[in-house]
Parts: sequence; C-alpha cells; structure tokens
Amino acid sequence: MTLALQISLACLYLYLKKVKVKIKSKNEIKYNILIKNGILKNTGKLVKKLLIGKRVLIVTDNIVANLYVDKIKKSLEKENIITSVCVLENGEANKNIEGISNIYSTLAKNELSRKDMVIAFGGGVVGDMAGYVAATWMRGVDFIQIPTTLLACVDSSVGGKTGINIAEGKNLVGAFYSPKLVIIDSETLESLPKREFNAGMSEIVKHALLFDEKLLETIENHYNKNEKLDIDYILKRNCELKSHIVQIDYKEKKERMFLNFGHTIGHSVENASGYGVLLHGEAVAIGMIFAIEYGIKLGITKNKNILERVKNILSNIGLPISIPENINLKEAIKLDKKRNNEKINFVFLEDIGKPIIEKVDINSIM
Ligand code: NAD
Ligand code: GLY
Repeated sequence: MTLALQISLACLYLYLKKVKVKIKSKNEIKYNILIKNGILKNTGKLVKKLLIGKRVLIVTDNIVANLYVDKIKKSLEKENIITSVCVLENGEANKNIEGISNIYSTLAKNELSRKDMVIAFGGGVVGDMAGYVAATWMRGVDFIQIPTTLLACVDSSVGGKTGINIAEGKNLVGAFYSPKLVIIDSETLESLPKREFNAGMSEIVKHALLFDEKLLETIENHYNKNEKLDIDYILKRNCELKSHIVQIDYKEKKERMFLNFGHTIGHSVENASGYGVLLHGEAVAIGMIFAIEYGIKLGITKNKNILERVKNILSNIGLPISIPENINLKEAIKLDKKRNNEKINFVFLEDIGKPIIEKVDINSIM
C-alpha cells in the first residue's frame, strides 16, 4: 500500500462508523462493516487495500446500475483496478440458476482469476447471488458487499448466508460464505422506494424486539412523535445486533434461529401470495404479529401488552399486520416446501428482549 493510500484511508476511517465481525471457526473469519454517508466514492481505495489480483467484477441489478454504478466504477478505475460489470434484471424472480449462470459467464469472459474479487452491489437479491458465485467461482474468490437497500444493510449483507431460489423453494441452494468487507453508504438509501424502505424497517423492528428495547423506543419515537431518525446510528446498531448473533452461532445451530422470529408464518404467507405481491419485510411484519398472538394464546408470551404496542409500531411504519383475506393459512403452511417435519422450531417472545424457541406441531398452528 502506498503512503498516499494509507493517509487517505486513515482520514476516511476517522469519520465513519465501524462494526467489527469476528467469527471463531476452524479458519477464523474477520471483516469490518463500514458505515458512512457518501462513502461510495471511496470504494476504490478500500478495495485496493484488500485486492490481491488486478480485477473486480461488480454484480448489480438494472435499477442500481442506472443510479450508482458509474460512481463506483470510476472510483475503482481511479485506483487502476480493472473493472467489469454484470447487470442482472432486478427482482426476486431472477434470483435463480439462470441469473448465476450469467454471472459465471461474465467472470469467464473478463478472465477473473482466483486472486480477483466480486463486488455485490445492490439489495439482498444481488448480495445473495453474487455471494454464492464468489463462494463457488474457482472454488472461492474474495468478495465484498455494498448493500443499497435498508434490508440488505441491516440483514442480508451481514452474516455470510448466500444462495439462490429453485422452483422447489426459496434459498434452497446456497453456502455460508463471508465477505471480506461490507461498505454501507446511507446516501444510497435516499433513492429507495418508500415501500422497500418500510420492508427493511420490519427487520429492524425484529432486531429491536429480540434484543434491544431502547432501539424499539427510538423507532417508536420517530414514527409516533416525529423525532428525527439518525439512520447511520440505526444501521450501526442493527449490524452490531446481527453480527453478535452471527459471531456466537454462525451456522444457525441455536441463537441464530432467533432471527427467524416472524419468518415461519412470514415465509408461508409470502409464498402463498406469490413472489413480489408481498415484500419479504411485509410478510415478516404479519408473521411477527402472528407469533406474538400465538405466544399469548399458548401462555408463552408473558407480557400481553406488547401485542398492541408492536401492532402500533408496524402500522405507523406502514406495514401490514394481518394475514391477507385471500390467503388460507392452513394451505399456505402446507405449501411451504421447505417444511418437511410436522414439528418445527418456532420463535416466540416471552417479552421484549426475551426470545425463546419452542418446538410446535405445525397442525396446532392452523
Ligand atoms: P431486492 O434486492 O430485490 O431489492 C429491492 C428493490 O430495490 C429492487 O427492485 C432493487 O433494484 C431496488 N433497489 C436496490 N437498491 C436501491 C436503491 N438504493 N435505490 C432504489 N432502488 C433500489 O430486495 P431486498 O429486500 O434488498 O432483499 C431481499 C432478498 O434478500 C431476498 O432474496 C431474501 O431472501 C434475501 N435475504 C437474505 C438474507 C441473508 O442473510 N443472506 C437475509 C434476509 C434476506
Ligand atoms: N436473516 C436471517 C439470518 O441471517 O440468519
């Protein structure tokens, strides 16, 4: 690294928020999450420090490419990094084998070697696909995540889950593969459609309900009392909460399962409504209310007052809280192809900050 690059990175590091992730495994995994409004223009310098080879492939989607790809490409080329771009069609429907086949071909055409790097630049769809490709291209190349949706910033870019959908179900093909760095530029969230932003807020409410009542109050005060939301604080706090869980249970044997709060019913409702009708975060909002109601019914949720409180928060954000009338929950649960057991781990809340997992018979849910 040149002295100029060292000085320039030292100045950048002074003004940003950083979360360190350290996962103890056979080969220790370590990476930083850097959060700063406007950090995108520094991508080149940050990549230069990590890149062993000469080339990078930016994987993005058509919407994000139109908005931001020139900025990041320019920043990489300024550091003499040979940069190519693979633009995918946006949307969950394209998170499939054809999509990743397109990325592999672009990697081959541009002669990316094992020393080169993949950059996932977009929402969770792009992040999951590019991450999976990085895990498998030449048996694994370095990759970094530059998430541009709220959901990807606080959830999918942190934790190393990568993958694609197949006709038989969502995320059925995948790998645990961690990025070398996550760069979050909150400025990119300004172009996010409101509905997508709200869907990301749903996962933030989930983190707050599971682990941090103070964060819940901050969200409540923003939506109820119009208090200003410090988005960089929200991003950092959520990355801290998620990465803490990932650090203690990377492969989802125990604590990471808490992150599935609202997802059991959420997934079923999302699938039953058809891809794209309900956004993932919207389905999770419905699932979280269901889980609280169900917990109260079973006597597991001790603090019954949380039901009205969480309903208010989610409604104020603009999220749905009840199962759409055209969806038959029983059918939806049966249709969920990932479910091959009658008994499932269901995440309940005893109270805010007190998640608990209980095995339940799926027939008793319906
Ligand atoms: P997404 O990637 O489809 O993005 C949503 C929409 O926003 C897309 O149309 C995209 O083009 C657009 N967009 C992205 N950034 C934008 C910006 N800055 N301005 C304007 N538009 C922008 O959806 P998502 O909600 O980010 O991610 C959902 C995916 O994430 C799902 O496939 C889900 O399975 C996955 N996921 C993965 C994990 C994980 O741990 N790996 C966790 C949660 C979700
Ligand atoms: N989004 C859930 C997880 O990363 O485990």
